[in-house]
Amino acid sequence: MRTSLSLLTILGVFPLLLQANGQMSMIRHHFVMQNGIDPKYVSKINLLERSAENIAAGKKLFEKNCARCHGMTGIGDGEGGKELKPPPANIARFIKTHNVPDDYLYWTIAEGGIPLETAMPPFKDVMKEDEIWKIIIFLREL
Ligand code: HEC
Repeated sequence: MRTSLSLLTILGVFPLLLQANGQMSMIRHHFVMQNGIDPKYVSKINLLERSAENIAAGKKLFEKNCARCHGMTGIGDGEGGKELKPPPANIARFIKTHNVPDDYLYWTIAEGGIPLETAMPPFKDVMKEDEIWKIIIFLREL
């Protein structure tokens, strides 16, 4: 049940995403609309609490691993992302304006751009599961 709800959330917001002029990852949203996310990640949910400690840990991990492309505030303006096509996504806007499911974010961070052939690196081999969840907690604070 949750599976289809999660996917429907993404599919349902697709027309809205098209209208937005920020740089959310259209290539990714399009991919998910056609293929869904890797079944291995479907319905994964964050069991860590949204504590000040976890937010701070997530922020640190984000600054170390993500900010060079996505920028310190997650709007996609990092120095390392300037030449990339497609460009790093405006995560802050995406998270603020949509009800983005945990499994979608986890899959994105774990597998990165592998399924879509983008420059987003996969983090599944360099980060522990709880580190990815802490980053996700922080992303929701952007
Ligand atoms: C080398 C640059 C680079 C780094 C480092 C990077 N990303 Fe990305 N990211 C991208 C690009 C390019 C895209 C857009 C294409 C795509 O979706 O794969 C993207 C897309 C995303 C999206 C999808 C947003 C949407 O609209 O659906 C999320 C979420 C995300 N990144 C989170 C992260 C997080 C969290 C980290 C750190 C753990 C990170 N990224 C590190 C380049 C990067």
